[in-house]
Amino acid sequence: MSRSQSIWGTWPPVFRALATQAMAFLPIALLAWALPARLPLWFWVLLQGILAASLAWGWGLGKWWRAFQILLPMALVWQLGHAFPHWFYPALLAVLLLLFGGGMLTRVPLYNSGTAAWQALLELIPEGEAIRVVDLGAGLGGPLAFLARHRPMGQFLGVEASPLVWLMAWVRCLPLRPNCRIRFGSLWHLPLQEMDLVFAFLSPAPMAALWHKATREMRPGTLLVSHSFAIPGVASERRIPLPGLPGACLLIYRIPDSAPETQLPLL
Ligand SMILES: C[S@@+](CC[C@H](N)C(=O)[O-])C[C@H]1O[C@@H](n2cnc3c(N)ncnc32)[C@H](O)[C@@H]1O
Repeated sequence: MSRSQSIWGTWPPVFRALATQAMAFLPIALLAWALPARLPLWFWVLLQGILAASLAWGWGLGKWWRAFQILLPMALVWQLGHAFPHWFYPALLAVLLLLFGGGMLTRVPLYNSGTAAWQALLELIPEGEAIRVVDLGAGLGGPLAFLARHRPMGQFLGVEASPLVWLMAWVRCLPLRPNCRIRFGSLWHLPLQEMDLVFAFLSPAPMAALWHKATREMRPGTLLVSHSFAIPGVASERRIPLPGLPGACLLIYRIPDSAPETQLPLL
């Protein structure tokens, strides 16, 4: 990988998407200015989207981001012809940040695990034991609420960084107190020394850093369970496929006796 690619690779996708739009705009504006023939606006808008999507592809953005790159200039031009109240855009931005802001910089979006994953997790937790479990990036609190209901002797904690999502999870888990709690904040600031099982459904981006944190903080023999995303260069002890979801699985990692030296990538 070239140096420029590795620098770009560390940028959150949303910044890469906006940067490639800006880069595509300059040559297209120059071309539109230099061409003697007047071409219709839709042609330039489409060209802007295609060029931005191609640049985004070159810098490793996935297919959803490439589709976003094509749609964004169209949406911008469309909204210029429609009047919206002045509070509309700040309000839209605020709602998006409240819902997705927590995962933006760590490149972890909000999507919920299903009951197949919750059931598989439940089978890892022995009945009648006061086991301590944490969900790093608790989302809407689905897994924690399910586990707390079925394992009333356990202690369940979730940490969530998106304010509105945290609030919904907090309300959901309120009837399950005191053995199920949701904390607002970053998973990177939550100490893991007390935990017997750490569950994480994140994205490929933070997995190496998560392993680094887990091996430094968790006790040897305890479990880190990742929903679907592998830790690069670390063999899982067990893989539990999740029925109905191609490729989805729980990957179970046991914390070793001594923390191996790992190279920590920039998030
Ligand atoms: C894929 S969802 C998983 C939700 C839930 N664990 C589940 O299995 O249904 C990941 C969640 O992690 C949250 N998140 C991302 N980065 C975080 C961080 N640094 N600290 C805490 N939560 C974070 C996101 O806001 C999102 O709600």
